[in-house]
Amino acid sequence: MSDELFGKIVLVTGAGSGIGLAASQLFADQGATVIAADINLVSAKLLASKIVDNGGQCEAIQVDIGDPVSVASLFHQIKQRYSRLDAAFNNAGISDAQFSWIDFPLEQWQRMIDVNLNGVFYCLREELKMMSEQDAVDGLRGQIVNTSSGAGLIPAPGQPHYTAAKHAVLGLTRSAAQDFSRQGIRVNSILPGLTETAMIVTQPQSMLDALAKMSPTGKLGQPIDVARVAVWLCSPAAQWVNGQAIVTDGGSLMH
Ligand SMILES: NC(=O)c1ccc[n+]([C@@H]2O[C@H](COP(=O)([O-])OP(=O)(O)OC[C@H]3O[C@@H](n4cnc5c(N)ncnc54)[C@H](O)[C@@H]3O)[C@@H](O)[C@H]2O)c1
Repeated sequence: MSDELFGKIVLVTGAGSGIGLAASQLFADQGATVIAADINLVSAKLLASKIVDNGGQCEAIQVDIGDPVSVASLFHQIKQRYSRLDAAFNNAGISDAQFSWIDFPLEQWQRMIDVNLNGVFYCLREELKMMSEQDAVDGLRGQIVNTSSGAGLIPAPGQPHYTAAKHAVLGLTRSAAQDFSRQGIRVNSILPGLTETAMIVTQPQSMLDALAKMSPTGKLGQPIDVARVAVWLCSPAAQWVNGQAIVTDGGSLMH
């Protein structure tokens, strides 16, 4: 087990389930103090107590990343309780049904953009502010990873809102990396392929089986497969990786 993250303070959004949960456990296993933020405080608290019971350090905080006031409150609490923020995994997100473009429900459009795009921006700008004001350690002030999706490169059918938001996350990532590199802050994104989490369990099993068969690996991703990449990108070992979009899908997008 690497101890590169020992003593680091790490924020994970969407920590209560799926990829965020797996990443939080891995960060804690590697010695980081995890701030587990989620709109679902019950699941974040459950995760935090599991980590603490296993000898790790984790605190659950409720946030709705789609609400700038809620995000400001999250960072106010982080600043009050912790001396610094070494890494952030901006991972919380929502999925949605497929809709026709012609009568696309505007409230669905708005909520998707509020959470999957604006939410990343709200968190990112607080992180950049906090990190740029803290002392550098070995020339590094912070590492940030944003969760996009395969839909950040290839459109998800009937989901222009999800597709647009996930494409935009790549732009936000590169913009932040460009503007904050000189301050010792690295910003990258990961693009998971279909991963077995609560987000996809509502899909018909036959469709999931068909998609798994189409992957070169013959299977769907597991949360830990994606979490490992996110945790590595948040570690000092990845400090020469910057502004990148790392596809974490077992090779599905090769096709
Ligand atoms: N599972 C996949 O196949 C897949 C594929 C590509 C990208 N992704 C992306 O991965 C990320 C994590 O998804 P997952 O698959 O682990 O899903 P998940 O549903 O298991 O977990 C998402 C977590 O985000 C939290 N959340 C939702 N809205 C929130 C909000 N407004 N504020 C704070 N927390 C909120 C949920 O409560 C949940 O704990 C998402 O950004 C998703 O778009 C997932």
